[in-house]
Amino acid sequence: MSHYAARNAQGHHRVHKNDPEAIAHLKREHHKFRKLVDRINAAKTPGAKRDIAVELHKLLASHIALEEELFYPAVKSRGLADEVKEGLVEHDIQRFLSAQIEAMDIADPLYGTRLGVLGEMLVHHIDEEDDEMFQEAKKLKLDLDAMNERLETREHQLKAQYARTGRIRTPALDREVRARNAV
Ligand SMILES: [Fe+2]
Ligand SMILES: [Fe+2]
Repeated sequence: MSHYAARNAQGHHRVHKNDPEAIAHLKREHHKFRKLVDRINAAKTPGAKRDIAVELHKLLASHIALEEELFYPAVKSRGLADEVKEGLVEHDIQRFLSAQIEAMDIADPLYGTRLGVLGEMLVHHIDEEDDEMFQEAKKLKLDLDAMNERLETREHQLKAQYARTGRIRTPALDREVRARNAV
């Protein structure tokens, strides 16, 4: 089973001693994603998959919000525009699939398939963030230790919102997503 999670201890996926705190924070969330995807893939029934997927949908909404509200804008302004654009498009696909899966009946024959595709895409995306965007970001003159305080504050707000409402809503981000996908 433990297929993707083994990467958490390898290469740039590992949290290094010299990683700034914001990068360590985001990498630790990536570690949780790889573990969740492994557990979903190992689960035998759609019901068992959904029980774990609830955690995945929640962490994904929060993680994307932290990156798009705080981390991406900071590194984009320092020259990582191409990496950020690619990341945003991949986030949009993850958001779309995640919403579709959450709304699905687990009896739908495509339930496990959609979840499997989301897991594959997500692992590809976070691997690339670890290997490329985060490595480049470490070379920039950004205070990524201080940024972690903003990440933590926002994360707590989103967790409290989830505890209250059972949802994570980011209206400003939702407007941006609609605007960048408008045709
Ligand atoms: Fe991301
Ligand atoms: Fe990420």
